[in-house]
Amino acid sequence: MISRIGVQFLGKNFARVPKTAACNLRSRMLSTSGDEETVQIHWTLKDGTKMTTNDPLGGNLMRAAHRHGIELEGACEGVCACSTCHVIFEEDVFDELPEASEDEDDMLDQAFGLTPTSRLGCQIIIHKGLDGIHVELPPHTRNFAVDGHFNKPH
Ligand code: FES
Repeated sequence: MISRIGVQFLGKNFARVPKTAACNLRSRMLSTSGDEETVQIHWTLKDGTKMTTNDPLGGNLMRAAHRHGIELEGACEGVCACSTCHVIFEEDVFDELPEASEDEDDMLDQAFGLTPTSRLGCQIIIHKGLDGIHVELPPHTRNFAVDGHFNKPH
């Protein structure tokens, strides 16, 4: 007999998915095949700890951080509506990145500890040219939703 997972919200079942199918899907989403091309990324975490990861091409830096348990918030899930995925690059790497969009620049203005080489991790797509880069996480982030501040229309 196949075990089932039900999603319950406000007392109603919204989905019933066979557990084995759900596990297989999750496993596919998390695993990388052995011949998948990856780049090496060197991280300096909020507390100064160093870490090196290998990440497949095509994803973004925020997702890469999450995959490895790196504490990079990503409050808006990567839709460029917060600044909690703020990362800092070395100048030569920063100069080679595609230019930030106007939306990204607007969000970066809200970032804690903004530097001239700051970007939003969710907007940086991993490609071969990023192999061996160093990414630094600022010691703090500013999350308006959690901190209780919301902009008022004027
Ligand atoms: S996760 Fe919100 S802007 Fe990147």
